[in-house]
Amino acid sequence: MVNQSILSQDILNQKIITIIGEAFKLLNNQGDLLDGYASDVSIPKDDISKEIAKVTSLVIPDQVEPFEKSSSPLIQYVRSSTLHGNTETEPLLDLIKEVADYLPWKYNYEDRSDLGSYLGWAELIGPEAPFRTSEYCLGFTLISPNTLYPEHKHPATELYKVLSGTSDWTLEGVTTPRSPGDIILHPYNRVHKMETHEETLLALYTWTGNDVVTLSTYT
Ligand SMILES: [Fe+2]
Repeated sequence: MVNQSILSQDILNQKIITIIGEAFKLLNNQGDLLDGYASDVSIPKDDISKEIAKVTSLVIPDQVEPFEKSSSPLIQYVRSSTLHGNTETEPLLDLIKEVADYLPWKYNYEDRSDLGSYLGWAELIGPEAPFRTSEYCLGFTLISPNTLYPEHKHPATELYKVLSGTSDWTLEGVTTPRSPGDIILHPYNRVHKMETHEETLLALYTWTGNDVVTLSTYT
């Protein structure tokens, strides 16, 4: 980990821009990998391809607010969240490792505040994120081992790319084990949940659509 005392805001911003660029590259490389996409969910591969194209054409916002040191209890899981990647996701995980302690980890839902010790996210781009825009969100979701992120939904369209850790993902009652490299689309207002087992989960996420401001509600 890099010591924050030698990590100026400018350097941190540069590292985050590199991470965002690498994240877009990872999504862009998805291409033929969708051939093996699990057919046990009712999401056409075309919809995933379209969402990837949409996300990777977005522009990184110019407006940058300072990163504040996170006091989230999730910090204790940050190290383990980068240990279970694969050859595809490791380049991005290596970049994340350098700044993981300084990302804006939080759990900002009013409901189930008890979950904030076990799961949350570091939003890099978004309405309240350091790289500020109301157009879309991009960040990392972290879920500690043996944790259920209960059923919830939101008006944004959500794209996930698993970076580290194998876990169970459920969309409208259909559960699929997901491993590093897997990509998952949650269309807007569709109920979904995730559950981890031995490994901490770290996944890249994006939110797009007409409303990326309204937070999730538990169902
Ligand atoms: Fe979601």
